[in-house]
Amino acid sequence: METRLLFFFLLTISSLWQHHHASSKYSRPPARSLIHTPHNRSESDPQQVHVSLVGQDHMRVTYITSHKHTKSLVEYGKSPGVYEASSTGDHDSYHYFFYSSGEIHNVVIGPLEPGTTYYYRCGGSGPEFSFRTPPSDLPIEFVIVGDLGQTEWTASTLAHVGAKDYDVFLLPGDLSYADTQQPLWDSFGRLVEPYASQRPWMVTEGNHEIEIFPIIYPTGFKAYNSRWLMPHQQSGSKTNLYYSFDVAGVHILMLGSYAEFDSDSDQYKWLQADLARVDRSKTPWLLALLHAPWYNSNEAHKGEGESMRKAMEELLYNARVDAVFSGHVHAYERFTRVFDNKVDPCGPVYVTIGDGGNREGLAMNFEKQKPEISVYREPSFGHGRLRVYNETRAHWSWHRNNESESVMSDEVWLHSLYSSSSCVESGDGSKRDEL
Ligand SMILES: [Fe+2]
Repeated sequence: METRLLFFFLLTISSLWQHHHASSKYSRPPARSLIHTPHNRSESDPQQVHVSLVGQDHMRVTYITSHKHTKSLVEYGKSPGVYEASSTGDHDSYHYFFYSSGEIHNVVIGPLEPGTTYYYRCGGSGPEFSFRTPPSDLPIEFVIVGDLGQTEWTASTLAHVGAKDYDVFLLPGDLSYADTQQPLWDSFGRLVEPYASQRPWMVTEGNHEIEIFPIIYPTGFKAYNSRWLMPHQQSGSKTNLYYSFDVAGVHILMLGSYAEFDSDSDQYKWLQADLARVDRSKTPWLLALLHAPWYNSNEAHKGEGESMRKAMEELLYNARVDAVFSGHVHAYERFTRVFDNKVDPCGPVYVTIGDGGNREGLAMNFEKQKPEISVYREPSFGHGRLRVYNETRAHWSWHRNNESESVMSDEVWLHSLYSSSSCVESGDGSKRDEL
């Protein structure tokens, strides 16, 4: 008995030693079981409703119906049950082996007023939903979390997200973890609907979205592109795998870790052109999201983002991107401002936030030697919030999922690079006393 106790004691000490910065008071439970979210409305009623931003004042409403003949129609207005306006869109379905999706409807509505709650109904019948449009100017608050999945951890992370207000949800890849089992995409759509129908969800792809099958589905992303159409055309991108958008003084690059990124690739050329168009007097903040992290001191997925970093880091650095958020690694890690593996006051802050709650569990092991550029790391589920207050200041916080509650466990004030006289010549010369 004593030997067993000694063994557990040593195991605990060794695990605490390995997880620098991890709170010793918090013991990490393992991955939890999948949640299946059933379809419990009528067959013709819309389900899996989610909304996303399209340009400055439009929103895309996406919903799925089992019936082929339900209209692609969204009626909306500023009071419940009073629909002063309506728009029509289009619908399509896809097949994956023996699976046939329902009809996936996409309807773009607007122009919409900023910071306003709209009530809407899809397909001419069924329940009423509501969303709030983002503000037209700062401040704005983003929730950022990747590798969501659909487990009990996902459900509690989403409950924590929903318990405090925010404007836009940003997801750096790995949504449903359907992994070719297409009904799990439907279940995921139903699980997130209470959140994704209320606030715009802007996503980019992770490796779990690929779903390539040799010869039959050689290019992959069939379910992802059909179900999570993002406004790539509006930013001049030819593919749903990368795009950018502006919201309330923030320009956001949604990059594709699983699209070509070398200097002769379409994505690289698109990124160059997109960055050339950024006007920091209109969007003083510049953020990037991508799936496989460029900086990572976890033993999981080591080096997987390295070739993309080598190809694109200089573009982001020269453009003075303020922060880069990634997923993929199921843990939280925040780096200081970095360029080319070194501390650089004009480089982006890098954050890994792949800890939404998926079925694979946490990436528990960080490298024993914490790199100098890594500031905080912890293998727990949770979500992040970026509140951009004005053109110079923003607050980043990470909220650990402590089961029934979320606990803010890391925070930092960010000072925009645009307002830094030492990084941008035309800055206002204000003193830099924060990151
Ligand atoms: Fe991933």
